[in-house]
Amino acid sequence: MPTSHAAWLPTEAWRAIGSHRTLITGTGPLVDTVADEVRAACAAHGGSVRYGDPSEAERYDLELTLGAESDRDTEGFQVARRDGRTTVRAATPHGLLHGLFHLLRLGPDAFGGDLPARSHRPATRRRMLDHWDNVDVHPVMGQVERGYAGGSLFWRDGAPRRDLARVGAYARLLAAAGINAVALNNVNVHATEARLLTDRLDEVAGLAGAFRRYGIRVHLSVTFAAPVVLGGLPTADPRDERVRAWWARTTAAVYAAVPDFGGYVVKADSEGQPGPFTYGRNHADGANLLADALAPHGGVVHWRAFVYNHRQDWRDRSTDRARAAYDHFAPLDGHFRDNVILQVKHGPIDFQAREPVSPVLTALPATAVAVELQVTQEYTGQQRHVCYLAPMWSELLRGAGGPAVAGLATAGLVAVSNAGDDPFWTGHPLAQANLYAFGRLAWDPGLDPVAILDEWIGLTFPGAPARLRQILHDIMAGSWRTYERYTAPLGVGFMVRPGQHYGPDVDGYEYTPWGTYHFADREGVGVDRTRATGTGFTGQYPSPWCRVYESLDECPDELLLFFHHVPYGHVLRNGSTVIQHIYDTHFAGAREAAEMRRLWEGAAGLVAPELYDRVRERLDEQVRSAAEWRDQINTYFFRKSGVPDAKQRRIY
Ligand code: GCU
Repeated sequence: MPTSHAAWLPTEAWRAIGSHRTLITGTGPLVDTVADEVRAACAAHGGSVRYGDPSEAERYDLELTLGAESDRDTEGFQVARRDGRTTVRAATPHGLLHGLFHLLRLGPDAFGGDLPARSHRPATRRRMLDHWDNVDVHPVMGQVERGYAGGSLFWRDGAPRRDLARVGAYARLLAAAGINAVALNNVNVHATEARLLTDRLDEVAGLAGAFRRYGIRVHLSVTFAAPVVLGGLPTADPRDERVRAWWARTTAAVYAAVPDFGGYVVKADSEGQPGPFTYGRNHADGANLLADALAPHGGVVHWRAFVYNHRQDWRDRSTDRARAAYDHFAPLDGHFRDNVILQVKHGPIDFQAREPVSPVLTALPATAVAVELQVTQEYTGQQRHVCYLAPMWSELLRGAGGPAVAGLATAGLVAVSNAGDDPFWTGHPLAQANLYAFGRLAWDPGLDPVAILDEWIGLTFPGAPARLRQILHDIMAGSWRTYERYTAPLGVGFMVRPGQHYGPDVDGYEYTPWGTYHFADREGVGVDRTRATGTGFTGQYPSPWCRVYESLDECPDELLLFFHHVPYGHVLRNGSTVIQHIYDTHFAGAREAAEMRRLWEGAAGLVAPELYDRVRERLDEQVRSAAEWRDQINTYFFRKSGVPDAKQRRIY
C-alpha cells in the first residue's frame, strides 16, 4: 500500500492528456505546475509536452495558453476543439490550472469530435476548506477536532510534520476539485495553536508554500484574545488603540512571511472562545478590528456566526438556540467592513442530517456572506457510515424547500475538511466523494450531485467495469437519505450521544445546557418554533418561508418536527401518521444499510483488496449501527406513545 491513495487523480485518469502532444505557452510558477502535471502524464502514457509559442500550435493536439482570455480577474478558462486540436485558454495561471483539470474530467472526450468554444468560471471567488487541526493533541478532541481520518496532515504531537510531500499531494487533490483556500487550524484556538500567528509563523509559511504550488491560499484561525495571550496587553478590546496597533503590527509580520496569505478565521464568543462581548462590544466591532489590520494587505476575515448560549437551562422554554445567530447578527447588517465575510453554518443549529436553511443567510443583504458546510461527518456517521452528502448540499444550494443558498453565499462556500493522514485520506474511502463534491459544487452550485458522483467514480476507478461503477453508484447515490431514515426523524435532529455525536441517544441532549430538544411526551413530539404558539423562530424567515414553515399544512414533511410539536397521529403530507412514518423509515433505513453491504460484496476482486476490506469493515459497522438506531428510536417512540406498528414488526 503506498503512503496515500491516489483518490481522484490516479495515473490512469491522465491517459487521454498524457498520450497527446501538448504545447504550453505562458510563464510563471503555476504554469510550471501545469507543465509538470502534463509531463508526468506523458511519462506514463507516451505523449510529449513542451513550452513554446502559439505560432507553433499546428504541430500539437493540445494547446494550453495563458493570456488569451479577456476576463483577467477570474480563475476562468475557455475550452474548444477544432481541426483536431484542443485548446485551453486562460487569462490567469489559476485559470490554466483549472482548465487542465477540466480536461482531465473530460478524458477522451476532450480529444474526440469538435467542441464549440465554451467558457467556464467559478460561481464564487473563494472555495475554502477549514481544517479543525490542532498542533498539540487535545485531551478530549485529539489531533483533529471532529476528525475521522487519522491525524493531521500538518502537525503531529505538537510539532510540524517535516515531510510536506503529503501536503503537496493533498493540495493537488483540492485544486483538481476546484478549491482555492484552506484554513490550517481549528476554530477553537488553544494556547499552542494561538502561536501560529507569531512565533510559529514559519510553520504557516512552510505549509503556504506547499499549497501555493497549486494556487491555494492559506488562512489561519486566530484567537480574539491574541493581544492578551500573545502580546501581553491587559486587554483585547477592539476599541483600544494598543490592541489595534498590535493587530496591525502582527498582521504585517504575517504578510512579510506569507505574501499571499488569505486572512483570519474567527470563532468568537462561542462555546467558550473569547470575543468582543467581554469588552461590551458587538461582533461588528470585533470583526472590523481584524478587517482593518488585514485590509492594507488585501486579506479577509471570516467571522463565524455560530454564536449561541451553550449554558441554557433546559427548563427555560423561551430560549431557542435556532434563533441565536440571527438575533446577534441581523441587527449588524451594514456595519461590517468590506473585507469581513460572515461565515454562517447552513442550518440554524449544527450540521444535522436535516435542517432548514439558516435565516441569517437571508438577513444581511449589505454584508458579504459565506456558507459553511460540514464535509467531515460529525453528525452523519463519522466516516464509518456511507453518507454521500452532495444531494443535501445541492438541495440547500438550489433551494428545495427553502431559500436558495447559492444566491445568498455571495462571498463563497466553506466546508470543514474530512481529510487526515489516513492512507485513504478520509478514513472511509467512499468519503473521498464528499470532499470532491464539495469542491465541484462550490465551483458550480448548479451541478447535479449524482452526476458529480459518477464523475468521481470515473476518475477514482478509471477503466473499472460497468458493474463496479454501478455498485458504487447504487451504494452511494441515495446514502444520505438512507442515513436520514434510520436516524432522528422529520428534522428534529440531535438524537446522538452527547460529546462524541455518534450513535443513537434519543434523550442524550434533552436535559443538557446545549439547547437542542425534541420535547417528546406521550402525546407527541417536535419543537414548536412558530410565531403563534412557539419560540417565534419562523418569523426570522422572509416571505414565503415564514408562512410556509409556520403552517402545519405547508411545512415540508422532512422539517415538520423542527418547526412544530405535533401529536403522533398527525397525518403528514405523504399520507402517513408521524408515528407510523417513524417506524416505516427506521425499518427501511436499516434494511437499506444491509442492502449496501450486500451490494459491496459484488465489488470483491474489482477493487484493490485494501480498499475492499476497508469499506467492508465500515459497512459492517454501519449495518450494526443502523439496526441500533432503528431499535432505539422505534422502541423509544413506541413506549412513549403506546401506538403499535401497523405492520406488527418487532419493536422492543
Ligand atoms: C460543533 C462541533 C464542535 C465545533 C463547533 C464549531 O459544535 O461539535 O466541535 O467546535 O461545532 O463549529 O465551532
